[in-house]
Amino acid sequence: MAILDHHKILEKNATLLLVFSFLVVTIGGIVQIAPLFYLENTIEKVEGMRPYTPLELTGRDIYVREGCYVCHSQMIRPMRDEVERYGHYSLAAESMYDHPFQWGSKRTGPDLARVGGRYSDEWHIDHLNDPRSVVPESIMPAYSFLRHRQIDPTYISDRLTADSRVGVPYTEDMITEARADFLAQADPDLDASGLQERYPGAQARNFDRQAGVTEMDALIAYLQVMGTMVDFSTFQPDEHR
Ligand code: HEC
Repeated sequence: MAILDHHKILEKNATLLLVFSFLVVTIGGIVQIAPLFYLENTIEKVEGMRPYTPLELTGRDIYVREGCYVCHSQMIRPMRDEVERYGHYSLAAESMYDHPFQWGSKRTGPDLARVGGRYSDEWHIDHLNDPRSVVPESIMPAYSFLRHRQIDPTYISDRLTADSRVGVPYTEDMITEARADFLAQADPDLDASGLQERYPGAQARNFDRQAGVTEMDALIAYLQVMGTMVDFSTFQPDEHR
C-alpha cells in the first residue's frame, strides 16, 4: 500500500515524527477544548446549594488545617462501585462554594463527599476522639484535642468577606450577622431563626455535647452537612446541552 510506504519515512525520521505527533495532539486538544468556550456555564444549576454557614465554614477550615484531605477525597465518580458505596456521583455545583475545593487525590480512608447524616454526632465525637474505639482496625489519627479548643469567632465576618470576594454569594446581612449565626448554630439556647432564614435547612444543635463552641463543634457541623444540600430524590440531570 502506497500510503503505508510513506509512513516509513515518518518512522525513520525522529524530527518529522515529533512534528506530526505534535500536530495530532494539537488537533485532538482543540477538538476537546474548543466546545467548552461555547458553553455558557460548565456548572449545572441545581437546587438546594447554599453557602456554608459561619460554623460549617470554620469546620471546613479546620478540615483543611488538619490535612484530612491527605487521606480523604470528596468526589464520588460516576462509576457503579462508587455510586453503590457512597451515593449519587458528585456534581460540579456541589463544590462551587469550596475555596479551595477538597476533591483530593488519595483515599487512605473513604470518600467523605456524602458523609453528612450517615453517622450520629456521638459517633463522630467518639471517632474523632479515638478512631479505634468505633473502628478497631482504623489507622486514622485521633483528633481529641479539638474538643478542648474553644473558638472565639472574632474574625468570622472577615472570613465570610474573603469568600465573597472570590464569588461566594454571601450577602451584607450574612456578613454582619456572622458572629450571631456562628453562636446560634451550636447553642440550642439561642434563637436560630435568623440562621434558618439566611441558610435554609441549617442544622443547629450542640454538636460536641459540651459547653461553648469548640473546634469539634465546627468540624462535626461541617461533616454533617457534607453532601446533604442537594435533594437527590428530585434531582434531574440537565439534558439540554
Ligand atoms: C492517615 C489518614 C487519615 C487522616 C489524616 C484522616 N483520616 Fe479519616 N479515616 C481514615 C481511615 C483509614 C478511615 C476508615 C476507618 C475508620 O472509619 O476510622 C477513616 C474514616 C473516617 C470517617 C468515617 C467515614 C465513613 O464513611 O465511614 C470520617 C467521618 C473521617 N475519617 C473524618 C476525618 C476527618 C474529619 C479528618 C481530619 C480531621 C480525618 N478523617 C483524617 C484515615 C484518615
